[in-house]
Amino acid sequence: MNDSVPTIANALPRKPVTVPRFFSAKAEGRKLAVLTAYDALTAQLFESAGVDALLVGDTVGVIVQGHDTTLPVTVDQMVYHTAAVVRGRDAGGGRALVIADLPFLSYQTGIADAVRNAGRMLKETGCGAVKLEGGGSDHAETIAAIVTAGVPVMAHIGLKPQSVHVVGGHRVQRDTEALVADAVGAEAAGAFAIVLELMHGDAAKAVTEAVGIPTIGIGAGPHCDGQVLVGADMLGMNPGFAPKFLKRYADLAGVMTEAASAYCDEVRDGRYPTAEHTHG
Ligand code: KIV
Repeated sequence: MNDSVPTIANALPRKPVTVPRFFSAKAEGRKLAVLTAYDALTAQLFESAGVDALLVGDTVGVIVQGHDTTLPVTVDQMVYHTAAVVRGRDAGGGRALVIADLPFLSYQTGIADAVRNAGRMLKETGCGAVKLEGGGSDHAETIAAIVTAGVPVMAHIGLKPQSVHVVGGHRVQRDTEALVADAVGAEAAGAFAIVLELMHGDAAKAVTEAVGIPTIGIGAGPHCDGQVLVGADMLGMNPGFAPKFLKRYADLAGVMTEAASAYCDEVRDGRYPTAEHTHG
């Protein structure tokens, strides 16, 4: 593992973010900062920066694998990436909660499948929780069964990308009453937190006020209890993706392209490698 990554989170309390600590942030008025990661080095850097949780999202299918949707991602792939993120989190300090997404068809096919696949994530990766797309209206029994088996569950309401073909695209979700009912049902089923994706700010505020568990927004405005972004989007690695909700904190696309281009030039004209980079 890389020992030389910068650590700028020394000021944060180093107690691990367990599910109860994540949950109690809402009552304590602490906003939660969450980023997605799919590999060990990125996880180590985000851990060193002080994130509260690393979400191993099924967006790995889009960001890493190059698919148009998250649907092709498998349970085995999620196990592989989550284990890498746990190793990176541990190398960076071991504070952040690692949450693994349950991919398409790993829980929609029945409660036994859901419990088995959620259990695999904990047993085989060392993560602390799973996330599934759904809430009280569609997956209350599944959430309850997974939690009863000993696996903490984060729900996910609003836009659910695994249902993209049913809803006909990535649309802002507008039915506040239904969103509140979905969230209240997820909390009653035992979820410890809920992602709110792509909804009006007022709807996210109503949901956040209606539940005692933290709401983690993405495209849901400022009234949630925390925020999640896809790490690569936040870092500006994907200039073609520019939704209204996204704030870029760096231009890594520019930095990476310039660095790779300088490398190509130096290799081609013989400026790299030199004696300085040579053994003996
Ligand atoms: O898969 C994912 O990365 C997610 C976040 C965008 C919330 O579900």
